[in-house]
Amino acid sequence: MKTTIAEVHKYVGQEVTLGTWLANKRSSGKIAFLQLRDGSGFIQGVVVKSDVSEDTFQKAKSLSQESSLYVTGTIQEDTRSPFGYELLVTNIEVIHEAVDYPITPKNHGTEFLMDHRHLWLRSRKQHAVMKIRNEVIRATYEFFNQNGFVKVDPPILTGSAPEGTTELFKTKYFDEDAFLSQSGQLYMEAAAMALGKVFSFGPTFRAEKSKTRRHLIEFWMIEPEMAFYEFEDSLKVQEEYVSYIIQSVLRNCSLELDRLERDKSKLENITTPFPRITYDDAIKFLHEKGFDDIQWGDDFGAPHETAIADHFDKPVFITHYPKVIKPFYMQPAPDRDDVVLCADMIAPEGYGEIIGGSERIHDYELLKQRIEEHHLPLEAYQWYLDLSKYGSVPHSGFGLGLERTVAWISGVEHVRETIPFPRLLNRLYP
Ligand code: 4AD
Ligand code: MG
Repeated sequence: MKTTIAEVHKYVGQEVTLGTWLANKRSSGKIAFLQLRDGSGFIQGVVVKSDVSEDTFQKAKSLSQESSLYVTGTIQEDTRSPFGYELLVTNIEVIHEAVDYPITPKNHGTEFLMDHRHLWLRSRKQHAVMKIRNEVIRATYEFFNQNGFVKVDPPILTGSAPEGTTELFKTKYFDEDAFLSQSGQLYMEAAAMALGKVFSFGPTFRAEKSKTRRHLIEFWMIEPEMAFYEFEDSLKVQEEYVSYIIQSVLRNCSLELDRLERDKSKLENITTPFPRITYDDAIKFLHEKGFDDIQWGDDFGAPHETAIADHFDKPVFITHYPKVIKPFYMQPAPDRDDVVLCADMIAPEGYGEIIGGSERIHDYELLKQRIEEHHLPLEAYQWYLDLSKYGSVPHSGFGLGLERTVAWISGVEHVRETIPFPRLLNRLYP
């Protein structure tokens, strides 16, 4: 019976054949332990000299790392391994022998691993992070589908810039200039006016000259947008969504979290409601903590966000930022004009901002004025202004950065390990 490692629990006591790669091995005179992987999981193959042919035992002892094999054997329960099963090997058929695989079980430097990202993905740790990424995506679709949202795909090639013009990737679009999307938001607002509650999931691009553990040049964003939702309604969706993904990963990726040595207790209490602090109070808090470098009107840097987040054991919303440091489309607060109805969600443990969102301006005149104040070309935003001309309604939305969220949940230090092929400042290979 040909099967996969993920399915072996169905075949205890039976003989199966697995298509695998040899991740690692150790052997003595009488027994060889093969660490086998097949993409769906990892399992230990035990080859006992006295139980197999001389040829099979010699193969088991001499096989090189990452050789591909069909391994046949009997599935046994194994209470000592976290996976719970092992394979008592009866036969090995070599498909392809790998020669001098560059990533050995010893430690390698980051640059070396990044140059070999196409192979590094095979490692146990990277496998676990990719599985967690997949679970976050799966739970995202589940959450929004269960809550009546429609998935909408905004374009990648665009003619307008929601988040400011300094970080745009420009490209030629026949005779016109086009930009790679930095956010699908404006299109999602149009979609919300057609479909009510919508969400997108797609790649976004920022030509940011930032070289930090939180910045990618190409990253994936989930962007929900909701008609008739005011600021508070949106915060509620955000905390429910984030706790839903956390609980899904805890339930479905327990082995992976263990493999990453993630402290699960830090995730278990991520339940609603999440704490909130206004920007004004956050500035006061930072001054009390001795941050003299920040003034009202400045944007927070990573150390500021971390200091605020460290004060809470759940993600925290920082709300009501000064309008001067936020994009043109954010709705001013009803009681004062200098702050906007926005919130950034800051993850615990130093992972920084994972969500940016706001209520949107839905008054035509105000929106036009804000576009002009930001020196944006009105022609490019004519279609967007149409939305507030024809049956404009209050609406809100947000964007969750997938990689930062996965980095936090997985507990990996840098976002580069949370995307299969990271695009970083000065890195386009592999
Ligand atoms: O805060 P941002 O820039 O918000 C927007 O783009 C809004 N238009 C979204 C919306 O309301 N629909 O980006 C949203 C999130 C950030 O909170 C962060 O998690 C992530 O996207 N992000 C990045 N992740 C990795 N690398 C980068 N360079 C990122 N820039 C933003
Ligand atoms: Mg932001």
